[in-house]
Amino acid sequence: MPGLTSIRTSEGKIEIVNQLLLPHTTEFIEISTIEQAHDAIKSMKIRGAPAIASLAALTIASHLSRALQADPSPDFLTSPLTLQEHVEGHLSYINTARPTAVNLGAATRRLSNILEQSVRAGKDARAIAEDLIREGKEIDEEDVGRNKQMSRHGAEWLLEQWAAKGLSGSNLNVMTVCNTGSLATSGYGTALGLITHLHETGRLQRAFYTQSTPYHQGSRLTAFELQTLNIPSTMLCDSMVGSLFQSHGIHAVAVGADRITRDGDTANKVGTYNAAVLAARHKIPFIVVAPVSTVDLDIADGSSIPIEHRPALEACVVRGALYPVRTDAEGLKEQATVMITPEGLDGVYNPSFDVTPAELITAIVTEKGVAVKRDGESTFDLTSIV
Ligand code: MRU
Repeated sequence: MPGLTSIRTSEGKIEIVNQLLLPHTTEFIEISTIEQAHDAIKSMKIRGAPAIASLAALTIASHLSRALQADPSPDFLTSPLTLQEHVEGHLSYINTARPTAVNLGAATRRLSNILEQSVRAGKDARAIAEDLIREGKEIDEEDVGRNKQMSRHGAEWLLEQWAAKGLSGSNLNVMTVCNTGSLATSGYGTALGLITHLHETGRLQRAFYTQSTPYHQGSRLTAFELQTLNIPSTMLCDSMVGSLFQSHGIHAVAVGADRITRDGDTANKVGTYNAAVLAARHKIPFIVVAPVSTVDLDIADGSSIPIEHRPALEACVVRGALYPVRTDAEGLKEQATVMITPEGLDGVYNPSFDVTPAELITAIVTEKGVAVKRDGESTFDLTSIV
């Protein structure tokens, strides 16, 4: 069954679906410059760690493709060194769009390494640009395949755990946080991919997902994806996770990740930590599903992960739904943004992510397989999977 899409490309044109307007309006926006990609990521028109990495890589590739076709050639194609300076500038700029998801940095570092290698190999500027275009497209294309791999690994592992407890016949209720499906990746998804895989193989009873306020990635995006895929599902407010665990047979919690340290501490959408604490209390397996590129070996533990804080206003309004309050001559609708707090609050705490310590995580699933902690240990050793 086809899922939704975050990025579409054809004949060198890149378009993203404006996620600020989903699910009520599906509007595709063309991204033709690095500045537009930066703005789209920063303003959350596109979000989700793998999707923003794919957009960055594709935009660099498309910028270079256009340069190669331009007549006259732009000055930066004069020599390998002018090209290197130009591309490095763009890579560092796009890297500043959002700080927590390491996938963006991993994608730009990968392009930077190709650039370095091709310059060292003595290639001319045009050949180096070709190498970068190939790599940029590959970063996007490889995402869907690895998402399917990790989803299968995670689902099979989970079913084995339940079979070991003598529950091989039962279908699973799985809760998730935020949005980790097709809209957050180049396709299929990570934690939502695992849920989709269970559904496709007839082993899912029901998916549960938190609203994930204040941006409502759950109630807007995960809701829309699950509806599109016809997956039985139930939404809950972020404050209802404890109640859900007390009253429903939840078999597992599966979440995505924006950055995983080498010990396994995991930054993900704010609210993930709350769910992990409650899952531990209720002895519910808590699984992180993410590509290997989300593991940051340079960081030992979660206290060093840079956590993005979003503007205060974003936590004071309800937005994202598009009401046809007015339709102008061009047929454009206005977005309704409703203030829910008194104006001018004294203080607003609005981190976009929190860190779940490895101690609370049962397994980390990547395209390479399932990592668990050694008996008696409270952290993972992820050095071998990266
Ligand atoms: O702020 P967002 O919407 O970009 O946050 C997204 C998440 O936290 C996801 O869980 C994470 O990026 C993994 S997406 C496969």
